[in-house]
Amino acid sequence: MSRILVNGGHRLSGCVKIHGAKNAVLPILAATVMAEGVHTIHNCPKLSDVSVTCEILEKLGAHITRDGDTLVVDTTGEMESFIPESLMRKLRSSVIFLGAVLTRKKEAKISAPGGCELGPRPIDLHIKALRELGADIKEEHGYLICRADNLYGKDIHLDIPSVGATENIMLAACNADGVTTIKNAACEPEIEDLANFLNSMGACVSGAGTSTVTIVGKQELKASEHKVMPDRIVATTYLCAAAATGGEIDVLDVCPEHLSAVLAVLSDCGCRIIKGKDRVMLKAPQILKSPAAIKTMPYPGFPTDAQSLFLAMLTKSDGTTMITETIFESRYKAAGELLRMGAKISINGRVALVKGVNKLSGACVSAQDLRGGAALVIAALAADGKTVINSPEFIYRGYENLEENLQRLGADIVYEG
Ligand code: EPU
Repeated sequence: MSRILVNGGHRLSGCVKIHGAKNAVLPILAATVMAEGVHTIHNCPKLSDVSVTCEILEKLGAHITRDGDTLVVDTTGEMESFIPESLMRKLRSSVIFLGAVLTRKKEAKISAPGGCELGPRPIDLHIKALRELGADIKEEHGYLICRADNLYGKDIHLDIPSVGATENIMLAACNADGVTTIKNAACEPEIEDLANFLNSMGACVSGAGTSTVTIVGKQELKASEHKVMPDRIVATTYLCAAAATGGEIDVLDVCPEHLSAVLAVLSDCGCRIIKGKDRVMLKAPQILKSPAAIKTMPYPGFPTDAQSLFLAMLTKSDGTTMITETIFESRYKAAGELLRMGAKISINGRVALVKGVNKLSGACVSAQDLRGGAALVIAALAADGKTVINSPEFIYRGYENLEENLQRLGADIVYEG
């Protein structure tokens, strides 16, 4: 059984380079299906979620080679339109293949997607929007069977600014006659990155990164080359780890603008922050101040993916913080494990109250989802003594070279296989 062992109490100091964004690379890889040819995607981190996406692409008929952080995806020739349940279940973002495969094949058969258990994660908005564009979607024996001989551009209003639904509509709308306008679209930077890739393929997408995205369909698409944006949540993880240990860190290869919401809270916590063009430097105080309240919101608000990271970091702050999770119901799984380390957290529905303590003590804990797992690493680095983190495979869905990077920053952390 694999685990991560951490001897806590070391102040982190130094610099770390941030890899490409998981949540940008996954839809971009799916989009390669839409145009025949050889696509070159740079800055693709080695993550288990990326490997599963490549497995799905290979199942569909693509040939993939990796050279460092560059993936070359050859989608020339006949491709399949069926993705088996075993692969779909491994990954939430597998649902993005629906829009991509429909565009290429005019049909797709996929099962309901998997991913981290963060409460109910329906795909009703994806299905409703694709039907509005003219897709015929039937649900049979746990599979979605979709046909789209002709799609027609429409105005689509999303009830919730869903990241995945916005991306799926963008992909399908590339194959629709006329203009599709997505209102109340998600504004996350990963959507802008996907739009940039689609436009480099010849698509016509405008407004990505705002709440109104417009797609002019039926452009001729060709294979393309793209560099994936930096991972803002991985950057946040290292910033929180440094802050939790009273450290000093220089986070490189990031887009500071994407980090505005988390940097504002870190600054409220007493951290000194200097932003450069593509780097952020943080110097933590000896004791973090409580920022009083944090509420997760769609971008540009405070990201739900950073919530557990701050929950862990604030366990050792001076004061009480009220955290409200508005996006996913079950995103406090790390709290139970943090209690084992001496944290004082009470949860009531979507609200967590974190009362800062003077010290955390190492314990045996288990990761239960990706960001919750990373939160346990942060707490372990700040705790006295030894922490054992079981089920680290959740963490490797989203972090490349985590232990090596933290070791270079002065942490005592090892992976035991
Ligand atoms: N929702 C619906 N119906 C839908 C789609 C979404 O009700 O058809 C709800 C969800 O249940 C949730 C809310 O809308 O309550 C937002 O979900 P969204 O669709 O925006 O999330 P997602 O596309 O499934 C992506 C990221 C998540 C990140 C969220 C929010 C990827 C692969 N995943 O998920 O990242 O938390 O957006 O920003 O892009 C992670 O990296 O650990 C992760 C979970």
